[in-house]
Amino acid sequence: MSGNHQESSVVVTPANRLVGEMRVPGDKSISHRAAMMASLARGRSVVKNFSSARDCAATLRCLEALGVRVVREDSIVHIGDDEGGGLREPAEVLDAENSGTTMRLLAGVLAGQPFAAAMTGDESLRSRPMSRVAEPLRLMGAGVELADGGRAPLRITGRRPLRAVRYKPPVASAQIKSAVLLAGLFADGVTTVEEPTRTRDHTERMLKEFGAQLAQNGNEISVEGGARLRARDMLVPGDVSSAAFFAAAAAVLPGSELAILDVGLNPTRTAFLSALAQLGADIMVEDERLECGEPVGTIRVRGLASDEARTLNVSGTVIPNLIDELPLLAFAAAALGRGMELRDAAELRVKESDRIRSTVENLSRMGARIEERADGWRLHAGGARLRGASLDAFGDHRVAMSCAVAALTAAGDSEIEGARGAVEVSLPEFWKLLEGVAQ
Ligand code: S3P
Repeated sequence: MSGNHQESSVVVTPANRLVGEMRVPGDKSISHRAAMMASLARGRSVVKNFSSARDCAATLRCLEALGVRVVREDSIVHIGDDEGGGLREPAEVLDAENSGTTMRLLAGVLAGQPFAAAMTGDESLRSRPMSRVAEPLRLMGAGVELADGGRAPLRITGRRPLRAVRYKPPVASAQIKSAVLLAGLFADGVTTVEEPTRTRDHTERMLKEFGAQLAQNGNEISVEGGARLRARDMLVPGDVSSAAFFAAAAAVLPGSELAILDVGLNPTRTAFLSALAQLGADIMVEDERLECGEPVGTIRVRGLASDEARTLNVSGTVIPNLIDELPLLAFAAAALGRGMELRDAAELRVKESDRIRSTVENLSRMGARIEERADGWRLHAGGARLRGASLDAFGDHRVAMSCAVAALTAAGDSEIEGARGAVEVSLPEFWKLLEGVAQ
């Protein structure tokens, strides 16, 4: 692969294989949570291997605007001071930029503060649904004003204590669950979230690490209000959703031998590994251990040549556990000449882009036979080799990187419009890391 970075587009040339060992920067989901919980804790916390994502920098800036002391030296972030654990009314509108996690989780935190604050974001974030967090936070007693259509900008008038509630989110979303649990820290009793389907559980794990009282019973998670979080040092594992792009690229390039070290292996995030294995890759997980409450280890991938025309079927309760990797899986399946049937994934339409649309559009441009469905897609197996094409990131980091993975196997170069800026949102090092292992 040679990246010819011109303005905002990136040209990707095909590669033969990926070989070597690599690490990816710290997990985005976990970094957001570490920053927010450290801000609420009494004392100073040090977060190591903090994500390099622009999204997480947006979280830090919002927390600074809320009066939190933040000192950052590359991937090490010092948060909090000896006095406090208290936030103060911001002088400005908080800007979550492109980050849904920043806006929705912080909404939960702000609901329990004795002041009002407004939050906005970029055009993509301002088009995404926010009533899903406004509704439970209002039930808990906070004031939440939204712009037309239930979108950002939003204004939250906090209240302390909030009312402890029992809440069943209408969609499976870790962001809704986390917003309610974080608000629950400021409630007058036990707050319970009953998830329709289990989603990533980083908030639960980290709340325990910071000393909150948490109980879990099947899909129900309860948090006790009034707890004082205690500062602590955290080591963030490598981002498994970033690792996914390299694992998939190794899987689709026969002869690849790639090891990704010190990466998060939380079972609520790793379903894409089994999906990749179903597509025919040889995947091994080694050196598993627990660090700061999160499973961590090494992912080894070998790319295998095979001409089976298998179809990957994805639907139902597994969806939240690979929600961010679904476009990538379609690009990987198409690159391998495999099929993919996706259902129950309408949530993809309200991500950083409409990921059903952006996946189907880009794969069609590469010559794949794929049809859009309301809640997924149908990619036909046995298609011809993908062709290099003019692709579009649609302003979406995961779409940009998924296109790049498929482009590595295509016949001819591909140019991905908007890819350069898009990857900054979650993995600014993407091109450099890819160049380091591509042959
Ligand atoms: C995230 C939860 C998921 C995921 C997003 C990060 C989180 O969103 O898609 O990238 O950190 O909680 P939803 O909760 O909206 O499904």
